[in-house]
Amino acid sequence: MGYLRESIAIRARYRRCRHAWAPHLAKTRQALAASLERCRQRRTALVLGSGLLLDVPLAELAASFEEVWLVDMVHLPAARREAARYPNARCIEWDVTECAAALLDGKGRDALAEGTPSAFLREDRVDWVGSVNLLSQLPLLPLAWLGEPPSSTHPLAVAMMRRHLDYLSRFRAVVCLVADAEQRWGNREEAMEGADLDPLLGLSAHAFDQWWWELAPPGEAGHGHAIRHRVLACHWPSGIAAP
Ligand SMILES: C[S@@+](CC[C@H](N)C(=O)[O-])C[C@H]1O[C@@H](n2cnc3c(N)ncnc32)[C@H](O)[C@@H]1O
Repeated sequence: MGYLRESIAIRARYRRCRHAWAPHLAKTRQALAASLERCRQRRTALVLGSGLLLDVPLAELAASFEEVWLVDMVHLPAARREAARYPNARCIEWDVTECAAALLDGKGRDALAEGTPSAFLREDRVDWVGSVNLLSQLPLLPLAWLGEPPSSTHPLAVAMMRRHLDYLSRFRAVVCLVADAEQRWGNREEAMEGADLDPLLGLSAHAFDQWWWELAPPGEAGHGHAIRHRVLACHWPSGIAAP
């Protein structure tokens, strides 16, 4: 479905935009570390969207938890090698939306509408969960697979993101969500277009930090566009339903 290609593309963009991304990666790691301070019992840490491990404080997690489970659709070899340095860390290839298999089976839009992710919820040793720059990525390839426009405000996209938030709220653990709440793009500072996810997802009510991620500095994206995302770090409460 394109997950491997996307992962390789993210790595390539990271290599080109290393300097522009550095503050965002550091802020994400800091936010996750701040969330960890709220976590007294430290058996299993679950990282959703671990990917290339660019923004994951793996050394700190591995030092303070008995086990660290790194969950992503794809872990490229460098991420696997990095994880292998920590005997208590393991990479788990898993679709956190739990709908990709149904899409591949040809269930179409129904695949996105039905089903609620439930993996790891019954693992009562999970004491901390981080969802790390994953939320807005979840609908992109499923929408592309269905031939729908790649808009993060598409109703199907919003429904998928809400389901992820609902999933997070069902863990009996300390949960940290780092996710973009606003996306802006364009080739002139004064005339950037944007999409604001916050009114649709209700993230800011739980935010304890925020910053801008210069995802694509001017010229990096097509048509000379720049792309920047406003990222929120949230203490995601358990036991609430997403709006
Ligand atoms: C912006 S990257 C996150 C960066 C990652 N935290 C890092 O440090 O490299 C988004 C990640 O979400 C993953 N992803 C997207 N959809 C997914 C899904 N349905 N299940 C699991 N992972 C998914 C991608 O493979 C990618 O690694």
